[in-house]
Amino acid sequence: MQSQSPKTVNHSRTTITELMIPSYANFGGKIHGGILLSLMDKVAYACAAKHAGTYCVTVSIDGVEFLQPVEVGQLVSLHASINHVGRTSMVIGIRVVAENIKTGEIKHTNTSYFTMVAKDDDNKPTEVPPLVLESDDDIRRFLEAIKRKELKANYKTELANEKTSMQIEENLHLLEKERVVVKR
Ligand SMILES: CC(C)(COP(=O)(O)OP(=O)(O)OC[C@H]1O[C@@H](n2cnc3c(N)ncnc32)[C@H](O)[C@@H]1OP(=O)(O)O)[C@@H](O)C(=O)NCCC(=O)NCCS
Repeated sequence: MQSQSPKTVNHSRTTITELMIPSYANFGGKIHGGILLSLMDKVAYACAAKHAGTYCVTVSIDGVEFLQPVEVGQLVSLHASINHVGRTSMVIGIRVVAENIKTGEIKHTNTSYFTMVAKDDDNKPTEVPPLVLESDDDIRRFLEAIKRKELKANYKTELANEKTSMQIEENLHLLEKERVVVKR
């Protein structure tokens, strides 16, 4: 396959802005986390597909923490940019902000990282263009993505080891400070 021309981060930078309408709210009047996740998936797709020039799929999502509630009537903007490319995968960083239209107050609700994979017409992972890093921010985000990948791989290995070696009796003392009643 012919090697592809590199593309800049700006080439695929994408923002979606959406008004939070009442049907997006939960019983407490705040916006459902699932609505925000769906919008994040959409903007990640748009950004990844623009870089890859192909259909893409979501493989994993990191860093989803909703630290601030989003209210009905607010304008939510999701800013997506490509942070990292592998051979067929891309990491898309998404910054979510909510704006109170009346006061102009803007709050940062979360930043998450979507790993997307480019697919060819046979639904097989396919190579994506290299990334041109034009600014220190582009370089920092790329390096951070490498670090996150390493940390995640270590975490996965440690978790798998813990699971296979987990002895219930040896670890029962951990339940003493938990709010549980053991009845067996
Ligand atoms: C993800 C998927 C493409 C991997 O396919 P595969 O045949 O195992 O392909 P590979 O092993 O070559 O992996 C492809 C890329 O995905 C990356 N990848 C695979 N699993 C991953 C994971 N859990 N987290 C992050 N990246 C992952 C690989 O590192 C590789 O990236 P690289 O080419 O940049 O090095 C495949 O499992 C798939 O299509 N999953 C379903 C995705 C989907 O439908 N998403 C919608 C959600 S409902």
